[in-house]
Amino acid sequence: MSTPHDIPAAAPDSPSVGLRWAVKRSFLDYLARTPGSRAYVAGGVTANSVSEVTFPPAADAVDQADPSGALVYRFQGEVRYIGHGGLLHVAITDPIVTLAGDIGTLTIASVDEEDRHVRVELATLTVSARTAGDDGISWEATDVRLAPAGVAVFGDVYQAGELMAPLYVYLPPTKSSA
Ligand code: HEM
Repeated sequence: MSTPHDIPAAAPDSPSVGLRWAVKRSFLDYLARTPGSRAYVAGGVTANSVSEVTFPPAADAVDQADPSGALVYRFQGEVRYIGHGGLLHVAITDPIVTLAGDIGTLTIASVDEEDRHVRVELATLTVSARTAGDDGISWEATDVRLAPAGVAVFGDVYQAGELMAPLYVYLPPTKSSA
């Protein structure tokens, strides 16, 4: 039987640079007990032994261009969860987190019914711990909730506000910020 552990694993010593997320544990557990389910990664996404996937930072990973002072963290790559012969197809693509203070949103790239590129607000989150210094930037959000627009992504099974997996961001120091 195939499970999400079929995702290529990160090398044991490779750091989890980027956005690390397990989406929702009960969803991954459900896939693991659904015969024939698979997860596919692309664009540099890796998975660890506990089925968290890590999206690498995009070239312009952090941006504070927003006049409101919001921080924009951009990541790239994709994970696709497939099950029930393809009827279940959940894709998390090119995630972006926007933080205003400790409150943020997670959006993903998608296409609408007319094949236009759109971004979907998948979740809201609250940062619970944060460090920034010579070692780079890291923060985590334990209160990650499904946003109204994210309900359809999971086939309308979860309601808006459903608790999702904690989300972790780590970005090493860059030369320009050193
Ligand atoms: C042939 C089609 C499908 C069948 C037979 C099916 C069956 C099931 C069953 C039996 C459960 C309960 C699993 C359990 O608690 O052990 C479940 C849960 C779920 N299904 Fe499906 N499903 C189908 C399609 C889909 C599709 C298209 C989606 C869209 C993404 C979906 C998303 C989910 C989600 C998110 C859960 C809840 C998992 C959790 O957090 O407990 N399913 N499904």
